Amino acid sequence: ALRGAAAPKAHKPSQRSQYHLNPQASYKVAILGAAGGIGQPLALLVKMSPLISALHIYDIANVKGVAADLSHCNTPSQVLDFTGTSELPNSLKGVDVVVIPAGVPRKPGMTRDDLFNINANIVKTLVEAAADNCPGAFIHIISNPVNSTVPIAAEVLKQKGVYDPKKLFGVTTLDVVRANTFVAQKKNLKLIDVDVPVVGGHAGITILPLLSKTRPPVSFNDEEVQELTVRIQNAGTEVVEAKAGAGSATLSMAYAAARFVESSLRALDGDADVYECSYVQSDLTELPFFASRVKLGRKGIEAIISSDLQGLTEYEQKALEALKPELKASIEKGIAFAQKQP
Ligand code: NAD
Ligand code: LMR
Repeated sequence: ALRGAAAPKAHKPSQRSQYHLNPQASYKVAILGAAGGIGQPLALLVKMSPLISALHIYDIANVKGVAADLSHCNTPSQVLDFTGTSELPNSLKGVDVVVIPAGVPRKPGMTRDDLFNINANIVKTLVEAAADNCPGAFIHIISNPVNSTVPIAAEVLKQKGVYDPKKLFGVTTLDVVRANTFVAQKKNLKLIDVDVPVVGGHAGITILPLLSKTRPPVSFNDEEVQELTVRIQNAGTEVVEAKAGAGSATLSMAYAAARFVESSLRALDGDADVYECSYVQSDLTELPFFASRVKLGRKGIEAIISSDLQGLTEYEQKALEALKPELKASIEKGIAFAQKQP
């Protein structure tokens, strides 16, 4: 159902041009799992983007109320709601970016891998639908365990004959957001300036912040490196424990995912200077998937940035070697799951 009316005329050209590379930009974004803890605030943030003409929100339940609510925001995009598997195909038709935060979150005491059995099937089903209905779209996978759900998505897209590794992304932006926040706090830096690349994967020790590559350059003593690295790696668990059974990060995740959506839209719109960290098919290491900075362009990933992995400190080099067996196992688990499915 169509909710609200497109109101681009309500925005004065002078206001729009502050944000717009291209005042005609009118991308369509679908959020699958949009009624959830991440989905709702993410939909709100995406609704605020001036680059979007339509926001498609899909969930298995409770989506109509979210759509009615969102549609009253007087920002340009139309909100269309889709409920249940019968409406899934239409939620994806004509879409440029598909964001998938559908699935169960952790409770205290669980690892992200403990979510595999439920979330693997959810991601598989949703990516199959994306392959059938919007094969050229960018796909952003948020559902955990990301280290395995992205390889599952790749296999599903291969089985459907539409896999483009340049357009499949595991969303690890939250790791960067956290690293930037914690480093700025620790070093009394202006947050806006701090950028820490985070590589590897998105679980425990596979999350590797490269503090030595922080921009602008900052020096850390060994104790600071150890403390910051461990905090960034455990930040998800910090939130899970604070929420005490009520879920995992949703607000900071929505913020991070909205940043990644906005970066993707800017890239689609021709901005030639868009870089984000993401977990993608990669040849930076011997592992088939690896998170690193990537350059985004109109066709997806234009380049995987290798320079961050050069000249690592001894601490980072050891941590990189230490994460590989766990990340490899998670990748293989995802691939095996997708390949044994009928
Ligand atoms: P939530 O339970 O609040 O919301 C999940 C939503 O998914 C619900 O609305 C549910 O109805 C929906 N859903 C379930 N099955 C579905 C299906 N088959 N199709 C469509 N929608 C379906 O959970 P949440 O807090 O929003 O977290 C969602 C996922 O995101 C979890 O797996 C969590 O671990 C993950 N997560 C990832 C990151 C990251 O950095 N990548 C950060 C935070 C959370
Ligand atoms: C996070 O990093 O916050 C997410 O992956 C959710 C979780 O389970 O920690």
